[in-house]
Amino acid sequence: MKKNHSYCGIIEKYREYLPVTKKTPVITLNEGNTPLIYAPALSKLVGKGAEVYLKYEGLNPTGSFKDRGMTMAISKACEEGAKAVMCASTGNTSASAAAYAAKAKLKCIVLIPSGAIALGKLSQALIHGAKVLAIDGNFDKALELAREITRRYSITLVNSLNPFRIEGQKTASFEICDYLGTAPDFQVMPVGNAGNITAYWKGYKEYKSIGRISALPKMLGFQAEGAAPIVKGHPIKDPHTIATAIKIGNPASWTQAEAARDESNGLIDMVSDKQILDAYKLLAQIEGVFVEPASAASVAGLLKLSKKGYFKAKAKITCILTGHGLKDPDRAIASINKPKIIKPDLKTILKEIGY
Ligand code: F0G
Repeated sequence: MKKNHSYCGIIEKYREYLPVTKKTPVITLNEGNTPLIYAPALSKLVGKGAEVYLKYEGLNPTGSFKDRGMTMAISKACEEGAKAVMCASTGNTSASAAAYAAKAKLKCIVLIPSGAIALGKLSQALIHGAKVLAIDGNFDKALELAREITRRYSITLVNSLNPFRIEGQKTASFEICDYLGTAPDFQVMPVGNAGNITAYWKGYKEYKSIGRISALPKMLGFQAEGAAPIVKGHPIKDPHTIATAIKIGNPASWTQAEAARDESNGLIDMVSDKQILDAYKLLAQIEGVFVEPASAASVAGLLKLSKKGYFKAKAKITCILTGHGLKDPDRAIASINKPKIIKPDLKTILKEIGY
């Protein structure tokens, strides 16, 4: 591999903890190494001396955490001689799969729920040259079909059911521990298909088992109220939420998410669309961080729990911000007043801005 950067993605960085060998062709876009941003205003809102950090996964190459998993899944698919990959997606997985498959020269097929994908994500899957099929059905149906097709034909499934996806995504917990010098006390994150909470928990446990950290965080997962199968204890036939990325009624990694919750003494709870949108705007306006609605579920959850007095004093809390705000520009524009149209003269502008 040609190395002209000091940082070459998560496989090179965490090679010793990943199932790769010298023979694995590394397909990377230099994903990972995302900032963990201290959030003073949110910390103050939580109170009791809390320290809140934002893991800004929207700064990955395709704008979401999926790239960590996809570099592994696509590299391993290449190692195994695959010619084609496939996924079902609420948008981000398809964007990531399409980009990494393009780099690896693999055929990429994505199944998306028709009309339920944010604009930015759809544009990514299309521009990277994936075969994009929109089904008249939801994500759960799309995943069922992708599983069936990849069972029958030699096409590699690159949803998080692919164990290499989990392996790649666990590196985000390594980065958090490397940065903080310890594990956080609590980690708050959105839960959709439940692969990411599974991956983080695996990463934390592995770091503890080799002595890199001495304690594990409590894992706090949040689903959207209209798409909260784990909270409600049964699959949701017709999930609904404005957070389209986590509009999922029957998560593939349900059992593993419950294990992360129970082993860590954490919880999986839900937040309403209003709470998600409030957190979405708040985060952009008090911390300067723009995320997509699903990612704001973590901050909505943080605020919900802090209002209940859930956190102990001086808690170190990480919020996982899974995707960039530019993924879903329509939602941003619909949430805020449109710009006012004014005459192009100095006097009018000065009057508008109060000078
Ligand atoms: N946040 C964002 C921005 C996502 O795109 C997803 C999942 C999640 C959170 C939830 O993560 O599924 O591992 O629990 N998106 C998938 C997709 C389903 O197809 O892009 P999870």
